[in-house]
Amino acid sequence: MSPREDEGQSRPGVSRRGVLGGGVAVAVAAPLLTTVADASGAVDVEPAAPVTVRVEVNGRAHTLEVDPRVTLLDALRERMGLTGTKKGCDRGQCGACTVHVDGRRVLSCLTLAATTNGREVTTIEGLARGDRLHPMQQAFIERDGLQCGFCTPGQIMSAVGMVQEGHADSDAEIRERMSGNLCRCSCYPRIVDAVRDAQKVMR
Ligand code: FES
Ligand code: FES
Repeated sequence: MSPREDEGQSRPGVSRRGVLGGGVAVAVAAPLLTTVADASGAVDVEPAAPVTVRVEVNGRAHTLEVDPRVTLLDALRERMGLTGTKKGCDRGQCGACTVHVDGRRVLSCLTLAATTNGREVTTIEGLARGDRLHPMQQAFIERDGLQCGFCTPGQIMSAVGMVQEGHADSDAEIRERMSGNLCRCSCYPRIVDAVRDAQKVMR
C-alpha cells in the first residue's frame, strides 16, 4: 500500500487519521475483515457470516461451521482437538504448523480452513498406523532428531512430504527443501540423518 493509499486517498470518506483518532466510529470494509474503531481508538473485529466446511482429517470426516477468517491451524487445534500441530510464529516463518492437504505440505497458519472444503488433511496424529509409527517418526526417535520437540511435528510432516515429492536426494537438498522448518534447539544434523534413514524405508 502506498503512503497515499494509507492516508485513505483511494477510499473516499475514510482516512487513517480518521480511524485512529477522529473520535467518530468508522467502519472499514475489507474482503474478509470488518473492523470498527470507537472514540477511544479501540478496534473490535465483528463476526463474519460462518461458512460450512466439510473436510476429511486423518481419514475422519468433519463438518464445521467456521468464521471464514479462521486458519486451518486454529480449526485443527481448537475445533478438532488435534494439538499435535504446533503454533510457533503464526505468520509463515517457522514451519511448526506444517500439515498435508491432498498430500502436499502446507503451512496451516497461512491456510484458511474454508479453503479445505472437500479436501483431505493429514496431521502428525494421522501418520502412524495403530501402534506402528511412520518410518519418519521412528527415524527421528532413533537418530535423536529432537530436543524440546516443539518443532518436531512440523519437521516430520515436512520431511514426509519432501520424500514423497522425490526431493531428498542429498543432504544438501534435504537442508534446502526443509529450510522453512526452523529448530531453535538446532537439531539440524540429526534431522538430516533421520530423513536419510526414513527415506530408505519409504522407497
Ligand atoms: S506457525 Fe505456521 S509457519 Fe510458524
Ligand atoms: S527440537 Fe526444540 S525447536 Fe526443534
